[in-house]
Amino acid sequence: MNIAEIADRLEDTGYIVLDNALQNELLLRLVTRCQDDDPARFYAAHIGRGADKKQINTIRGDVIDWLDEADGIDQDYLALMEILRMGLNRALYLGLFDYESHYAIYGAGAGYAKHSDVLVGKKNRILTTVLYLNEDWHSRDGGELQIFDPSGVAVIATVLPKFGTMIIFLSEMFPHEVLISHRTRRSITGWFRVSGS
Ligand code: OGA
Ligand code: MN
Repeated sequence: MNIAEIADRLEDTGYIVLDNALQNELLLRLVTRCQDDDPARFYAAHIGRGADKKQINTIRGDVIDWLDEADGIDQDYLALMEILRMGLNRALYLGLFDYESHYAIYGAGAGYAKHSDVLVGKKNRILTTVLYLNEDWHSRDGGELQIFDPSGVAVIATVLPKFGTMIIFLSEMFPHEVLISHRTRRSITGWFRVSGS
């Protein structure tokens, strides 16, 4: 990862799409962790918080599992995100304080309607990262991430969830949507946060 380049692009355009963001060997290990074979691990993702917390799978159809700091594979990924966090703080003075992240699995027919990652009244998410873990993904498989301009009108980027692709974007700036996937779609979504609210 070229942190200087990432910092430049975040400053100029607010997002960057990286191909082959991590080494293949680590990507393959992350795939082994992103498997919904233990019913106790992954659960349906929720929308909103507090009394507004709902699980409506027409809006959001993925199941998630938060990364585990005690797991060796998750540790290797989190260590890289820590290097990125420190590098971006040095380059952009963002004051990023921590990183929270979860595996996500969208089954065939699932998507995530247009939304913002910054919840009303809770503005501590600064940067969103999404790393994709899908080998041999083609346009016909759907599941593209669409990034909208800040007004939410025009699509400014469409990202196929290909193995090793990572997008990093300013969480508050870009509404985005996951189009319906026609195959099982695996990823790790994370947020660099500042402390407090
Ligand atoms: C999210 C999200 C995008 C993607 O989890 O909030 O928008 O491409 N994910 O998986
Ligand atoms: Mn999102």
